[in-house]
Amino acid sequence: MKYLAIAAAVIVILAGVIFNTAGKKMMQATSGEVVEVVLPEPDSAGAGLFKQYCAQCHGLPEIDTHTATDWPRAVERMMINMSASGQQMPSEGERDLIQAYLVRHAK
Ligand code: HEC
Repeated sequence: MKYLAIAAAVIVILAGVIFNTAGKKMMQATSGEVVEVVLPEPDSAGAGLFKQYCAQCHGLPEIDTHTATDWPRAVERMMINMSASGQQMPSEGERDLIQAYLVRHAK
């Protein structure tokens, strides 16, 4: 009986921890907290389109975390993510501008 009580207490504590972290994540996602990102070439078409399309589902990704070879693959996958989820999708021309922009500033 004693073990049962201890097990129950552990479960309650764990659930609390998990719920608490999940709550915090949700708060961050829904509080509209704007992280000011300083983009290279901020006035270029590529930067504008990148901001417009690439923060619809997650925060704007950091550009210098991917190489010039990785970016086209990632963008291709994001096109699939966008078409699968019905998010606003860039036209081909816009996509090319975003991709060229990311490749220009890749790591
Ligand atoms: C439809 C929602 C959606 C949009 C819009 C979107 N993404 Fe994503 N993105 C995801 C999802 C889901 C993941 C995690 C799964 C994956 O990697 O495919 C992700 C992951 C990523 C990652 C991390 C994974 C990796 O390959 O390093 C990067 C970088 C990224 N997205 C870049 C972009 C860029 C650039 C754009 C704009 C062209 C974009 N995303 C637009 C849904 C989206």
